[in-house]
Amino acid sequence: METRFYITTPIYYPNGEPHVGHIYTTLCADVLARYHRLRGDMTHFLTGTDEHGIKMVKTAAEQQVDPRTLADRNVAIFESLWRELHISNDDFIRTTSDRHKLGVAKIVDRMLASGDIYLGGYEGWYDEGQEEFVTETAAKDQAYKSAVSGRALVRYSEPTYFFRLTKYVPAVLEAIESDRLRVRPEARKNEVVSKLKQGVDDLSISRSSLSWGIPMPNDPKHVIYVWIDALSNYVTALDDDRKKLFWPADVHLIGKEILWFHAVYWPAMLMSLGMDLPKEIFAHGWWTSHGKKMSKSMGNFVGLEQVREKVATYSLDGLRYYLLRAAPFGNDLDWTDADLVKTFNELANVLGNCLNRTIKMIGKYCNGVLPPAAPSEAGDLQLIARINETQVAVDAAYSAIALQQAAMLPVELARATNVYIDSTEPFKLAKDPEKLSRLHTVLNLSAQAISRALLLLLPVLPEKASQGLAQMNIVVKPGEWQKTLGELLPAGHTLGEGQPLFPKVL
Ligand code: MSP
Repeated sequence: METRFYITTPIYYPNGEPHVGHIYTTLCADVLARYHRLRGDMTHFLTGTDEHGIKMVKTAAEQQVDPRTLADRNVAIFESLWRELHISNDDFIRTTSDRHKLGVAKIVDRMLASGDIYLGGYEGWYDEGQEEFVTETAAKDQAYKSAVSGRALVRYSEPTYFFRLTKYVPAVLEAIESDRLRVRPEARKNEVVSKLKQGVDDLSISRSSLSWGIPMPNDPKHVIYVWIDALSNYVTALDDDRKKLFWPADVHLIGKEILWFHAVYWPAMLMSLGMDLPKEIFAHGWWTSHGKKMSKSMGNFVGLEQVREKVATYSLDGLRYYLLRAAPFGNDLDWTDADLVKTFNELANVLGNCLNRTIKMIGKYCNGVLPPAAPSEAGDLQLIARINETQVAVDAAYSAIALQQAAMLPVELARATNVYIDSTEPFKLAKDPEKLSRLHTVLNLSAQAISRALLLLLPVLPEKASQGLAQMNIVVKPGEWQKTLGELLPAGHTLGEGQPLFPKVL
């Protein structure tokens, strides 16, 4: 049966320009989407923008424009950035679009009809940066400041509609604990479980003091709470055909500060609608700068300007590799320029060098034609085993969403190949006509190994790995990635020209 894969990013607030935090999640989702497309899975990758809520209204007021103008301006920047960074999303949903607004109104109508939404009154604290209601106890513990941005909480008091979240808590808990809904990393799952066990109130889902939002279908004086509006995007973006094909989502990729909304509110909403739960929610860590979360509100982020500068210097794939390589996926990551240089040099010295010397030697000693192999020595067999192990390990890394591993393992294969070349010394073998068969074996196996590394890197370094494969004259036909990975390069295969993949940065 054909496998389907539906992956989403959070929809971002367009109250400012995107920064490296947004880029990170989107790139990671792009890597996963590319991997699944290469495997031949029918893949759908969704991203978009979350344009309602008080945060947008306040930023718009500060900039003396209306929220729609602010949204339009920044959404254009998000959309063109994703093109510029070659993000392979299949769709882009705006919460101000008709398809979304109609979809949300339908969702809320169904919840009203089933009695899961009722009218009450809310009096309590609100974190405007997070667009989150905060309980009295939590507010007190946080000294009445946002746990994320540190900004003062705001007191709200108004009539509001509630969603019967409490009714679904036992089922949500069961789904998470049993892994029917996988919440990852495990440590974050445990945090959600223990917070759920402490008890949860029904959720206020409308605001009468705000007009920038989707009106409650039964009572347009109220607008729908921005998180109910936002979470719905994962299904409002799918028309009926796509819903049949792609729902439930395979992975909602998000940052850790919004896990609660995704792991608790969203499954409860879906249960109320009688819809299947997503299979996995993966909450990655934060990019920090000197240990502090990078964010628009803190003003300490690596912004667009800097990202563009890094791409110009280190290439798009150099940036992708740095972002993925920086920490085990799920952990916080600290940006330093020194690490960026170090990881770029790793690509140049390990991957680029391995490719280059292999092509050069085959050019010099065999006229660019792959010689046959007769593996006999322990080192040969170890390298062959390493090639096979790496392929298995990379698949395992992708299924566990261990993206740092997925990126590094093929580069480590190139490193092992360099060690193999250093220790077998083909340049010496070439001087001795009696060692011709050894020379051929070493060159053949090196070519097998580096071509595997490049093939496995296609999701991570789409441009550089393709260029490297082109230098080896390897063509991956659509839908034949796995087949190509499973076959050895035949002796007699003619290689192309070697060019530095990662030209040195001076
Ligand atoms: N609009 C909500 C999400 C709704 S999803 C139904 C929102 N938007 S946001 O613009 O604030 O984006 C938050 C997301 O951006 C995080 O979950 C994460 O994916 C990414 N990041 C923002 N800052 C980040 C870091 N400093 N580090 C890593 N990712 C971060 O929340």
